[in-house]
Amino acid sequence: MMEEIYIAGTGIWYPQDKISNDEIVCSYNAYVDNYNQLNENEINKGEVAPLEHSSTAFIEKASGIKTRHVIDKKNILDINKMMPAVDHEDESKLSIHAVVAIEAAKKAMHQANVKPSEIDAVILGTSHAARNYPSVAIEIQNELGINGYAYDMLVGCSSTTFAINNAYSDIASGLAETILVVNPEISTPFVNYARRDIHFIFGDGCVASVISKKNDSKHSHKIIDRKLITKFSNNIRSDWSYLVRAANNEKSYDDLLFYQNGNSVFKEVCPLVAEFISSQLKDNNIQTNEIKKFWLHQANARMVNLIVSKIIGTDNFDTNLAPLPIEKFGNLASAGSMFAYNLHNDLEKGEKGLICSFGAGYSVCSIIVEKT
Ligand code: COA
Repeated sequence: MMEEIYIAGTGIWYPQDKISNDEIVCSYNAYVDNYNQLNENEINKGEVAPLEHSSTAFIEKASGIKTRHVIDKKNILDINKMMPAVDHEDESKLSIHAVVAIEAAKKAMHQANVKPSEIDAVILGTSHAARNYPSVAIEIQNELGINGYAYDMLVGCSSTTFAINNAYSDIASGLAETILVVNPEISTPFVNYARRDIHFIFGDGCVASVISKKNDSKHSHKIIDRKLITKFSNNIRSDWSYLVRAANNEKSYDDLLFYQNGNSVFKEVCPLVAEFISSQLKDNNIQTNEIKKFWLHQANARMVNLIVSKIIGTDNFDTNLAPLPIEKFGNLASAGSMFAYNLHNDLEKGEKGLICSFGAGYSVCSIIVEKT
C-alpha cells in the first residue's frame, strides 16, 4: 500500500512596507508627467508617443489588487529610482532569499512539529534565481543544520507546487521522509515600474512547507493526488541571463525584465486550468462540490473567480471557497497559492481542498489534499 504523505506545516514571511494603489498610481503618474514634460517637443511633433496615466479604479477592476507588501517602499515610489535598493550579494552574508526563507521555514517547522534534525532535504523553488551557484537551498540547509541534500529549481509561477511535487516524489520513492520546501519570491527588483500595464502587479513574500510522512500537526493535510502540465508560451517571459554579458546584440536592462501579454495569458490560461482541474477531479472520482477550498495561484482575482466558476458551474460562490490574498499582497509569483493555503487553512477533518498554480511556461500543477 502507498504510504501517506502530508503537507505537515507551512509558514509565510512578508515585508512590513506596504504600498496602496493610490500611492503606486501617484508615483507612476508623476513619472508620466515628468516624462511627457521632458519630451514635450517630440510629443508635439508626433515623434514620441505621450505616456498615459494609470488609475486605482483600473487596477482594482482589472486585477483585484488593493495593496502589496514590498522590501523597499521608499525607493520603489521615488520616480528617480523606481526600484527597491538591495545590497550586492556576496559571501560576506546570507542572501536575501535565504534570510526570508529561513523566517518562513521556522514557522513551517513549528507548525509541522519537526526539528531540523528530522529533515532530510531542502528544495527551493522560485521564479527568480538569486544567483547561479551555490544553490541557495544549500545555504539554507547549512544555516538550519539540516543533513541530506538540497537544491534550487525554477518553474516560474509554478515553482512552489512543482517543488512540493518533487518533495512528494522523493518521499514516495524512499529517498527521504521529511522535506522542507521553501519559496522566496522577491519580485520587486525585477518589476519595470515605468510600465503602466505592469507597475501595480507584484509584491514580495515567501512561503515554506514541510512535506512529510509524519502527521503530527493540527494543520496538516494528506496529499491525495498531484497533476502537472507544461505548455510552451512566450506570453510571460524574461530574457535575463548570464549570457547577457557576452551577447552581440546589446539590449537595455529594461528589455530583459519581466513582461507579459496579460490579456492573452488571461484568455489562454483560464480555460486550460479549469479543464485541467475538472479532469483531475473526474479521474479521482471527486465531485466538484466535495472541494471545500480552492487555494489558487494569485495573479488576478478575476482569473481565480472565473476558473472556479467554470469548475463548479456557477459564479455564485463565497470568497471563502476561493480565498483572495492577492487583495492585500498583490501577485506573489509562485508563493501565491500556498500563501492562500497558509492564511485560509480552516477545513474540517475529512474535507478536501485543492491547491493549483499556473503561470510562466505555461506551467500548471494541481494538488488535491484532505484535512486530517
Ligand atoms: N491604468 C489604466 N489603464 C491601463 C493600465 C493602467 N495601469 N494598464 C493597462 N491599461 C489599459 C490598456 O492599455 C488597455 O487599453 P486599450 O483597451 O486602449 O488597449 C486597457 O487598459 C485594457 O488592458 P488589458 O491588458 O486588456 O487589461 P486586462 O483586463 O487584461 O488586465 C492584467 C490586465 C495584467 C491585470 C490581466 O491581463 C492579468 O492579470 N492577466 C493575467 C496575468 C497572469 O496570470 N500572469 C501570470 C504572471 S504570474
